[in-house]
Amino acid sequence: MPSINVMTRTGESRIIEAAEGISVMEAVRDAGIDELLALCGGCCSCATCHVYVMEAFEDRLPALSDDENDLLDSSDHRNARSRLACQLMVNADMNGLALTIAPED
Ligand code: FES
Repeated sequence: MPSINVMTRTGESRIIEAAEGISVMEAVRDAGIDELLALCGGCCSCATCHVYVMEAFEDRLPALSDDENDLLDSSDHRNARSRLACQLMVNADMNGLALTIAPED
C-alpha cells in the first residue's frame, strides 16, 4: 500500500497508508485527518480538498482537467503545486508522495 506524507495545517507531519484505487482525499480522511472538508464528496465542484503536492511527483500525477483548473482558480491560495486531492487516484507510483493541506479559503 503506498505511503503518503501529509503535512497538516497545524504543521503536523503524518505518514498515512493509502489504498490503491481510492482518491487521495479519501485516503487523507480515512486516516482521521479532518482538514479536507470535501464538501462535494469528490465530484470536482467545491475545491475544499485543495492540497499542494511535492514537485518531484508532478509527472506521476494525472494532468489537470479544465474543471479542476477552474476550481483552483477560485482559491486565493493557489500556487504551482496546487491540486484537488479528490482528483488524484492512489496508485503504486504515489508511494512516498508528500503533500501539504492548503489553507482554507
Ligand atoms: S472534494 Fe470537492 S472538489 Fe474535491
